[in-house]
Amino acid sequence: MNNGSTSGELADGLRTLLARLAPGDRLPSSRELIREYRVGPATVARAIAALAAEGAVVTRPGSGTYVARRPALGDRAADTDWQTVALTDRAVEIHQIADPFGPPPAGTIVLDGGYVHRTLQPTRPLSAALARAARRPDAWDRAPASGLMALRTVFARLVGAGVTPEDVLVTAGGQSALSIAFRAIAGPGSQILVESPTYPRALAAARTAGLRPVPVPLDGEGLRPDLLADAFALTGARLLYCQPTFQNPTGTVLAPERRRQILDVARASGAFVIEDDFARHLGHGGAVPSPLVAEDRDGTVVHVTSLTKPAAPSLRIGALVARGPVMERMRAVRLVDDFFVTRPLQEAALELLGSPSWDRHLRSLAVELRARCAALAAGVTRELPGATLNGPPTGGLHLWVRLPPGVDDMALTDAARRRGVAVSPGSRYFAAEPPAAHLRIGFAATASQAELTDGARRLGAALIDLDPGNEAGHL
Ligand SMILES: Cc1ncc(COP(=O)(O)O)c(C=O)c1O
Repeated sequence: MNNGSTSGELADGLRTLLARLAPGDRLPSSRELIREYRVGPATVARAIAALAAEGAVVTRPGSGTYVARRPALGDRAADTDWQTVALTDRAVEIHQIADPFGPPPAGTIVLDGGYVHRTLQPTRPLSAALARAARRPDAWDRAPASGLMALRTVFARLVGAGVTPEDVLVTAGGQSALSIAFRAIAGPGSQILVESPTYPRALAAARTAGLRPVPVPLDGEGLRPDLLADAFALTGARLLYCQPTFQNPTGTVLAPERRRQILDVARASGAFVIEDDFARHLGHGGAVPSPLVAEDRDGTVVHVTSLTKPAAPSLRIGALVARGPVMERMRAVRLVDDFFVTRPLQEAALELLGSPSWDRHLRSLAVELRARCAALAAGVTRELPGATLNGPPTGGLHLWVRLPPGVDDMALTDAARRRGVAVSPGSRYFAAEPPAAHLRIGFAATASQAELTDGARRLGAALIDLDPGNEAGHL
């Protein structure tokens, strides 16, 4: 499959050629390919390397490139049915992780993405940071299991409030941090309180760790402390997972007076609070409250942060911040998982965070997110009559929209796909029965603001497809 690059196109061309050749046949030389396809030598080398990695060709230095000889599989496909028996219970929550609608076809307007579009990423500073990191003589050495001291120092400084580098554990992004924290803090079978709605892959990670999520409702001011106290009392849970700032999916910010209440309720229940602070750098320009961990004096809060959202999804660097024996446990899980986070990426993150362009990037990202949020909110209000917008939010990447009565989120998502726009059905965000149908609609993953307006229009058309009688009300 070609990935849109010149070498990808050449590889596609060569695949067509391979289909006409026999195993062992020689491919045209690099020089012939350069001439025939009018590409450079690096493009040819990349295309051949891709085909070799697929096992379609073999290269013999000094001799040329040849069509690979296929292993004889016999005339039947492998019978893997025995695996169904051997695998017994499902250990991983596939349906919570996988997109039920599959990858969208080309041309789809992507309003279901969880990261910022490439044009909003600090691509140049990132490349420069990685290049500098790769030039270090120790670039490929082992890294300390907890992460590079200099990077832990930066993360500690970002949290403030007396957090030291010893309280920081570098992880491969936020998802890895959540998975480590869930497994380190609670054993299989225990209950974990979660906001309702919440981030589906946190639910999946918790369930994969053998935990049983118990939903606690949010309102416009965040998690409700009264219901949280009830939930702790009813379940005896020792763990709460929450996102106090720009919650995914609702965009809600925990109200100032509730912050202390949540901490007090958790403390009184002898419970940990995992604070997922994934959206700290996704504010739309207004004040962003300090993290909950900054108010914690006795090791209640385990704080999760990540650079993937404000920078790029492949800058898989995040951190856990915690005090007390829980950090020892999390370090142990980290070590068991994969020893340490790849060193060049840690060095690159350090370079990026230390460069003057980082603050500039965050400022321009805030301006862009604010404008996009307003454009999509206007589009949704115009195109989805009867729907209710939560907010609109002052940070994050999404709108949370309650659908008009009688409209099913899965049916609308399906109809939207057919109209060429991808959105996320709200039911995935609930640990139990959803109280109403919602969509999460994102404004950060498209190339332009114009696509947002077009996406909202297509969504409106999809709503009419579901119930053509709506059209009159729509016009
Ligand atoms: C609330 C929340 N937490 C954590 C993550 C994990 O992101 P990453 O692993 O890229 O840091 C995401 C990603 O979508 C998220 O939405």
